[in-house]
Amino acid sequence: MNTYQKKLKPNPGIETMVAYQGGKPIEEVKRELGISDIIKLASNENPLGPSPLALQAITKNSKHVNFYPDGNAYYLKADLAKHLGVNEDYLILTNGSNEVLTLVGETYLGPGDEVIYSEGAFVVYEHVAQVSGATSVVVPMQNDTHHLPSIAAAITDKTKVIFIANPNNPTGTMVTATDTAHFMAQVPEDVLVVFDEAYYEYVTRSDYPQTLPYVMEERNFIITRTFSKIYGLAGLRVGYGIAKPSLIATMNPVRQPFNCNLIGQAAARAALQDTDYVEKSRELNAAGKMYLYSEFDRLGLRYIKTEGNFIMVFVNQSGEDFANAMMKEGVIVRQMGSYGYNNAIRVTIGKQEDNERFIEVLTQLIGSNSQLKTN
Ligand SMILES: Cc1ncc(COP(=O)(O)O)c(C=O)c1O
Repeated sequence: MNTYQKKLKPNPGIETMVAYQGGKPIEEVKRELGISDIIKLASNENPLGPSPLALQAITKNSKHVNFYPDGNAYYLKADLAKHLGVNEDYLILTNGSNEVLTLVGETYLGPGDEVIYSEGAFVVYEHVAQVSGATSVVVPMQNDTHHLPSIAAAITDKTKVIFIANPNNPTGTMVTATDTAHFMAQVPEDVLVVFDEAYYEYVTRSDYPQTLPYVMEERNFIITRTFSKIYGLAGLRVGYGIAKPSLIATMNPVRQPFNCNLIGQAAARAALQDTDYVEKSRELNAAGKMYLYSEFDRLGLRYIKTEGNFIMVFVNQSGEDFANAMMKEGVIVRQMGSYGYNNAIRVTIGKQEDNERFIEVLTQLIGSNSQLKTN
């Protein structure tokens, strides 16, 4: 027997990691609680279901899944290039936009490097830093919004990557075009800025920054976008990055060869063409947002105005307990403790009937809990 014993240890930074906690799937809640009438407003998915054109493409292409997908996503890339007005070599197609974020970590980050993001930012940035062994530099937000001057002030000669979700999940807040321009003027050329624009298509404010010019100016700048949100294809995992060709060419060999699946590519092409569906999704979201704002006002609950398809609302008690109590009533929402908001929940804006059911359960729980408190 070999006497040489070496302890199998994970890479530095991995041991303290916890697995990503997504919104609970409907089926799991059904099994656990034995209730059948459940709505999920927990993962910022499109409540309309997939686009009818995407569904046709899914059915048609299901016959071909014995084949590997096109590893370069030729047709989807061509469609996207046309849609965005960029050359194809500015694009990388991925397994959800999440994969662009992990590719950034795999390609550019290692021990000794610093990664900057905000305190209440999307959790995957922390994950990327931990897996790569890089150091996270976490900057406080102001008014629940990324504070770009503080982020700029946190840059050191070790800073490699800055992650900014715009709009941010879970707060729904955004940085403006003017703030972004000031910020970009302060960021050294060799620092990579990642603008995560998963909710880009929902934004209605006119001072939202159009970031493509930073890519075109040959800055070290990556925009990430997704088919998971307004395009209604979260289950198929299709996202993409937009960056100057030298960055794309550096990251491309790092990804898995067939990272973007065959059905996903076909469905994304169809969804991109379905402008009626996208418009309907945008309108439904805008109407739902107004309805929920007015109901929160009626209930006297503080909430954060959103540019996404979700709203963070303060329930003035443990958000974890509140989300669990809502789940028992068949409404799945997310508690926000992991983002540092212990007294808040985040609700995805659903169809009107879903929003009404959510408000009904919210009203009932707020009422019964405040009665408990006064007793
Ligand atoms: C800000 C943000 N970025 C990225 C993602 C990842 O989305 P996907 O990998 O489905 O494209 C999400 C998902 O919720 C998100 O909220």
